[in-house]
Amino acid sequence: MINLDRNENFYGPAPKCFEALNNIGKLDMSIYSKAYLKGVQSDLSERLANDYSIEEKQVILGYGAEEILKLTVQAYLKEGDKLMVPSYSWWYYKKIAEEVGCGNVEYGMKKTETSFEYDADSFIEIYERERPKVIFIASPNNPTGNSIDNDTLTRILDKVSDAVVLFDQAYVFGLHAEETGDLLAKYPNIIIARTFSKYFALASMRIGYGLVGQNLTRLMEFAHRYLGFNYISEQVALAALDSPEYYEEIAAKMEADKELYYKELGAIDGFTVYPSDGNFILVEIPKEIKEPLKKFLLEREIVIKFMNEELLNHHLRITIGTQEQNAEVIKAIKEFFT
Ligand SMILES: Cc1ncc(COP(=O)(O)O)c(C=O)c1O
Repeated sequence: MINLDRNENFYGPAPKCFEALNNIGKLDMSIYSKAYLKGVQSDLSERLANDYSIEEKQVILGYGAEEILKLTVQAYLKEGDKLMVPSYSWWYYKKIAEEVGCGNVEYGMKKTETSFEYDADSFIEIYERERPKVIFIASPNNPTGNSIDNDTLTRILDKVSDAVVLFDQAYVFGLHAEETGDLLAKYPNIIIARTFSKYFALASMRIGYGLVGQNLTRLMEFAHRYLGFNYISEQVALAALDSPEYYEEIAAKMEADKELYYKELGAIDGFTVYPSDGNFILVEIPKEIKEPLKKFLLEREIVIKFMNEELLNHHLRITIGTQEQNAEVIKAIKEFFT
């Protein structure tokens, strides 16, 4: 079975991650982390604070980036408040808002024939009209794959300083330490959410983090865990951070395969492949082939995501797998037309 429907990374984690697991001793499983003796929350938060040149208290850890999103909503929204999210986005954003009884305000994106783009003017207009307390911006965005450029981001952030902004970078490749540190220094109401699930191929370790602007002390306190974090996940994540060459090599393979998808699927009549900065691509297909194509691929044991959302209902989201998996998917889709 080829399962390319959940944006996992099938190259697997770096060899050093397995070494870290092998080095976990019996007692490591039985005792709470001793990081507090150094005056920090955890080894991983200490390391991330160093990498991004921020204070250690500005790093919060969670059970994936998912938990960082939830903690943010729980800390800053209550019943009747509004969360502002992209209308083309991860469906789960809206669910998180519903869980605390608050409504969603949606902002669109500019959709051209070949891309999706953030639109600062319409964003600001909606913000000023609706005054949401919390805003989610995703870059790269799931499922459209586009990132927000610096100018657009700055224009937006300059106008929304009364709101808490969660900048979801679950799909970013690499750390981008300098730009990230600059963003945190300039915008004290921002939370940058990142994860080890995607680029670092550690989804089942369930570890993500938020880098939190100086004003957001409520979130820092709310996310603090008196008894520490999952020591094993942390050691594996640290090993991943120590393996940049391994991940750069994988990223290069994924970039090459995205180009292959653009070229091969883009050449099929009625298909539009949107450029993506994440480990997935969005493909618009003719409505009438949605069900037959899904069935055809399932018969070949290939699972990709056929979108069923209001605005994206004849679209596929294909996770970029290994080079072998991607070749199989392209081959099968081409065979469908023969
Ligand atoms: C846009 C986006 N943000 C955050 C996440 C959370 O991932 P995790 O909880 O594994 O870090 C996902 C997972 O698919 C996602 O698509």
